[in-house]
Amino acid sequence: MADASLINEDAKNAVSFKLSSTGRSIPAVGFGTCKSTTNSVFTAIVEVGRALQSAMEAGVERRAMFVTSKIWCSDLSPDKVRAALNNTLRDLQIDCLDLYLIHWPFVLKKGASMPPKGGEVMELEMEGVWKEMEKLVEENLVRHIGISNFTLNKLNTLLSFAQIKPSLSQMEMHPGWRNDKMLEACKNNGIHVTAYSALGSENDPIVERVAKKLNKSPAQVLGKWALQRGTSVIIPNSDTNTIKENIQLFGWEIPNQDFQALSTLSHQKRVVDGEDLFVNKEEGPITSVAQVWDHED
Ligand SMILES: NC(=O)c1ccc[n+]([C@@H]2O[C@H](COP(=O)([O-])OP(=O)(O)OC[C@H]3O[C@@H](n4cnc5c(N)ncnc54)[C@H](OP(=O)(O)O)[C@@H]3O)[C@@H](O)[C@H]2O)c1
Repeated sequence: MADASLINEDAKNAVSFKLSSTGRSIPAVGFGTCKSTTNSVFTAIVEVGRALQSAMEAGVERRAMFVTSKIWCSDLSPDKVRAALNNTLRDLQIDCLDLYLIHWPFVLKKGASMPPKGGEVMELEMEGVWKEMEKLVEENLVRHIGISNFTLNKLNTLLSFAQIKPSLSQMEMHPGWRNDKMLEACKNNGIHVTAYSALGSENDPIVERVAKKLNKSPAQVLGKWALQRGTSVIIPNSDTNTIKENIQLFGWEIPNQDFQALSTLSHQKRVVDGEDLFVNKEEGPITSVAQVWDHED
């Protein structure tokens, strides 16, 4: 059931959200760049670096941009964190990230197969990795640090030793996967939430009905639903016209009744469940999707 306390009246038309750790703001709508023209997440970052350079050469100030990157599972050991960040800064051609996230709380061997072979997935040494990320903040190489795809269990473990609390948690969220428990836990701990795969429920009849009623596209309704919950949202890459349309999320709102209808879809299912990345049914150590999510779903 949707929790009425998760409706965030102040957020309805917020263009940015304050991160409690520093008081700096993150834009309410972010642009997902994991798909490049070559469709590879590993070359996308170089293209983003070129785009940032072009923007700055055209007069956009660095401080007007909020740049987030994530540390991938094959770099998730204490001795690799700094080198991973250095590579990211080099590719992006900037000297500081606004936000650096743990992409997934599991370690993968470099070049791991999908699905992984035996021995290619390992437990995360969370405390050691987080301490290295904290050092990056202390040295002003990164302004905020955060998490992605964490469970309540893993969040609580992190909070038990973190000297610098995560500023932000990035999670799959849409009406078909609300993830209320994590949203509530983050809110209680002053951790801002960003929704990814926000278009996950695009073809749901209730989404389509609300879109038709409001004369908006399903993607716009889903983006607005995320904002009205008080989360920032990452808009997926597409052609230029679709991107322009997808970000028209301000100056209108989803009425409460429709918001409630969107917030009570009974069928809840993740789109991004991590199976291909982490599950090896025969050899483990992770033998099921339920285990990826600490049996919390
Ligand atoms: N933390 C994580 O583990 C994680 C996981 C997934 C994503 N993310 C983040 O979230 C960002 C976005 O990822 P995503 O999963 O939301 O989407 P995505 O994988 O970037 O794109 C999904 C699809 O949405 C389509 N699309 C865009 N606008 C549309 C519209 N108005 N109507 C219909 N289809 C539309 C695009 O198709 P067309 O090209 O055909 O328009 C695209 O193929 C990523 O770049 C990444 O930054 C994070």
